[in-house]
Amino acid sequence: MKVGVIGTGGMGNVHARHYKNIHGVELFAWDRDADKLGAFSKQHEATKATSYDDLLSQVDLVDICLPTPLHVDAVLQAIEAGVATLVEKPMARRLAECQTMIEAAKAKGVQLGVGHVVRFFPEHRRVHNLVLEGSIGNPASCRMRRGGKAPLGSEGWFRDPEQSGGVMLDLAIHDYDWMRWTFGEVKQVFAKSVRLGKTVSGAKFEGDYALTTLTFESGVVGHSEATWMDPAGFRSTLEVSGSEGIVEYDSRSAPSVRVSTDSQLAIASQMDGADDPYFLHLSAVVSAVRTGSPMPITGEEGMKAVAIAEAAIVSAMENRPVDPRELLKKALES
Ligand SMILES: NC(=O)c1ccc[n+]([C@@H]2O[C@H](COP(=O)([O-])OP(=O)(O)OC[C@H]3O[C@@H](n4cnc5c(N)ncnc54)[C@H](O)[C@@H]3O)[C@@H](O)[C@H]2O)c1
Repeated sequence: MKVGVIGTGGMGNVHARHYKNIHGVELFAWDRDADKLGAFSKQHEATKATSYDDLLSQVDLVDICLPTPLHVDAVLQAIEAGVATLVEKPMARRLAECQTMIEAAKAKGVQLGVGHVVRFFPEHRRVHNLVLEGSIGNPASCRMRRGGKAPLGSEGWFRDPEQSGGVMLDLAIHDYDWMRWTFGEVKQVFAKSVRLGKTVSGAKFEGDYALTTLTFESGVVGHSEATWMDPAGFRSTLEVSGSEGIVEYDSRSAPSVRVSTDSQLAIASQMDGADDPYFLHLSAVVSAVRTGSPMPITGEEGMKAVAIAEAAIVSAMENRPVDPRELLKKALES
């Protein structure tokens, strides 16, 4: 299996480390930055391509780890070349671009997957399964928090909301996707954002924080907090309350997952550090390409996550609730 990575920055390097541990994978790479490409190919024993076209001509699967605004063109070029494609989350900067990618992949019969790796975090998967198994009865509410220091990225693209979409599209989308995967479709989003609301002024970098309330078709109420204003470093937390108990996760606690019900005071569970989510996700992607089966997280799933994020952005900017299903409908009709 020949795998090509385009974008040898932060995520390209994370992915490459894990591809090397997947049996039978041979790595290829392309980046416009010759120094980064050189260091990457040395570190991961990857063959350097001379252009993106050259990369596509050599591989069975391409993994797009470019800044978000560049996803759409890179995906369309890969599909045109008939190469199975994995694109990092968020699938695209704009919802309409997701639809263009999905249609192109369908027309060409090319597999298209999106890197919503949080579904492969063992703790998040465990909580998802506990909820679906009914361990806490009927779920009623979910609270998720994700954040850390503001990332920079090459040439500071993360800190330009026009490019990254800010915390809602770039960071909270992990939790929007996890909640949608666990509780089903979202019927209303209401968001408040420090950056978009311009309530913090005067600072060179204003910081970015967003609070989103999601109402699911099932009646579950979700609450997502995302921040790039936490100098203490990365932390994610998750709490689901149901009719018979509560399940909680905190990335800074050990054990990180706890379930409490009336009948059982607390079941604590410590995950195995060997279950690396990136390895699990990329292994599933490689296996889907080998067998010709659908990608573990399809383009359609990636698009629905972008619809929630776009609804949150519109909500924060216009101070009104937004139905992401309406945005999806518009994008599908356009
Ligand atoms: N799944 C996750 O947990 C996670 C975490 C961080 C970032 N991401 C996503 O991964 C993607 C990449 O983020 P990153 O942190 O790796 O960014 P980055 O800035 O660290 O890396 C991007 C790389 O792309 C290269 N590049 C830029 N333009 C190019 C072009 N036209 N042709 C070839 N190479 C080009 C840059 O030189 C750089 O090496 C983003 O969509 C981001 O949102 C996902």
